[in-house]
Amino acid sequence: MLGQGDLIPGASATLRSLLSCPVASTNLRTERLALRPVRDEDIDRILEYRNLPEVSRWLLRTEVDRADFRAAWRRGAADPNDRSVAVTLDSVVIGTVSLYVRDGMGQPGMPPGTEAEIGYIFDPNYGGHGYATEAVSAMLAYSFDRLGVRRITAGCYADNLPSVRLLEKLGMRREQHGVGDSWHAELGWVDGYTYALLGDEWRLRP
Ligand SMILES: CC(C)(COP(=O)(O)OP(=O)(O)OC[C@H]1O[C@@H](n2cnc3c(N)ncnc32)[C@H](O)[C@@H]1OP(=O)(O)O)[C@@H](O)C(=O)NCCC(=O)NCCS
Repeated sequence: MLGQGDLIPGASATLRSLLSCPVASTNLRTERLALRPVRDEDIDRILEYRNLPEVSRWLLRTEVDRADFRAAWRRGAADPNDRSVAVTLDSVVIGTVSLYVRDGMGQPGMPPGTEAEIGYIFDPNYGGHGYATEAVSAMLAYSFDRLGVRRITAGCYADNLPSVRLLEKLGMRREQHGVGDSWHAELGWVDGYTYALLGDEWRLRP
């Protein structure tokens, strides 16, 4: 559920134009969480859980170096298509949700920036409370209702059951099952899934 800080349909024209500005940062509130851009000072906190084996096991970059990780977040902060956020609970960073807006597939004339890819990494100490579901749900709503994205995709290893459950709980559709298409450092070639959801489907959900 979105709350204070969201784009309200009746917001003033000035506010709306500020919020639709490509460099406007992402700040959202849900029932329990605040979502905001990642700051330099968050990096050490994120790295307390980011490289734990149970967290990095299903990530594409298994282990990240502090300096590279900080540089990557700084690059993201300067990229208007990168809407990734830190998720905080009582001001403590408990996870991140990445969101990258891009063009879909199509011929000339296609409107730009209508597709986005979403991802998420949460501190296992805060797992199992629905925080990831709540944060990713807010980012889907933000993408569809405020950024004008029409289709969101997410990829995961088929055996990453918490991720599969989260995506399916949010109503995302498994559109691709890649048999043996994904390399895993310990397991070798394994299956991968791609999920997707259209804004129209999101708005029609029960
Ligand atoms: C994927 C990941 C974010 C899922 O985290 P999670 O803790 O399972 O997800 P949630 O916080 O939403 O918790 C889900 C559980 O919380 C509980 N829950 C849901 N809403 C709740 C609420 N409002 N209050 C209390 N508990 C709640 C439910 O029991 C739910 O379990 P269910 O799936 O059986 O319904 C986490 O496992 C992770 O970060 N993994 C490592 C990185 C990773 O794999 N990223 C994805 C790469 S594709």
